[in-house]
Amino acid sequence: MEHLKFEQTNQTGLLTINREQALNALNHDLLLELEDFLQNTLPQQDTRVLIITGAGAKAFIAGADIKQMQKLNHFEMLKFCDLGQKISILLESIDVVTIAAVNGYALGGGLEIALACDFIYASENAKLGLPEVSLGLIPGFGGTQRLLRAVGTRRAKELVMTGNQINAVEALNIGLVNKVMPLNELMDNCYKTANRIHKNAFSAVTQAKRSINNGSALSIRDALELEKQCCAVCFASVDRLEGMTAFIEKRAAQFA
Ligand code: CAA
Repeated sequence: MEHLKFEQTNQTGLLTINREQALNALNHDLLLELEDFLQNTLPQQDTRVLIITGAGAKAFIAGADIKQMQKLNHFEMLKFCDLGQKISILLESIDVVTIAAVNGYALGGGLEIALACDFIYASENAKLGLPEVSLGLIPGFGGTQRLLRAVGTRRAKELVMTGNQINAVEALNIGLVNKVMPLNELMDNCYKTANRIHKNAFSAVTQAKRSINNGSALSIRDALELEKQCCAVCFASVDRLEGMTAFIEKRAAQFA
């Protein structure tokens, strides 16, 4: 992979967006690599938690590649957005738990990738925003929709319509990120969370992800029905028998 770097330790994968000279901006080739990685490479690994970060200490991802986008016509832009949205949907729908380790600028398409991850951990130097209107466009990789679901309509409108960048603490205060920490503690914190998740039944973690992601756009009645089904699916797993038996026998559970 030219623009991505992947390494894995004990079921935790680390995917680095590796285009530091352009602040990890997402060009077409990089997006195709990312799509291929999520669709074809990742399912062949034994990965349960995937941490996504940007190369260098300055940027997570500074957005879609403006130099490349500037030359697109509107049909090509439609395809470019299709690809970006497909990647965000893949991130949401894979069973693997995804953590965006935002280590600097997360702007435009960069914030949109982070928003599609399950958790966002940010370093103190992070700057987050959707500055597309300053370029004459709007977010096209899911930003308007996922931001409003993350922080509510008013805050989403304010961020999208002003194009303002906010710092990590402001992002924490509006619920856009889960945690803020010094840059040199970012990866340790991500791995600690990954290790905490590894102690749980992965089959249950994946059902929880499905229930939350797929339920968020449903009516409360339909969402509760979905939750019930996901809960019942857990009962088909050896993990739930082990988890409950271990509790009764007062020992630590040994999950698959
Ligand atoms: N696209 C292409 N190249 C980019 C880029 C981007 N989004 N962001 C940064 N770069 C490049 C710069 O052009 C520069 O390259 P050169 O050295 O060849 O000129 C290099 O990365 C370093 O960037 P700067 O010199 O600008 O660094 P800085 O520290 O002065 O500023 C920054 C950092 C504030 C992030 C600034 O680079 C910036 O504003 N970047 C653009 C952010 C942006 O608008 N993102 C949204 C893109 S639109 C989008 O994502 C659309 C969508 O939803 C589909």
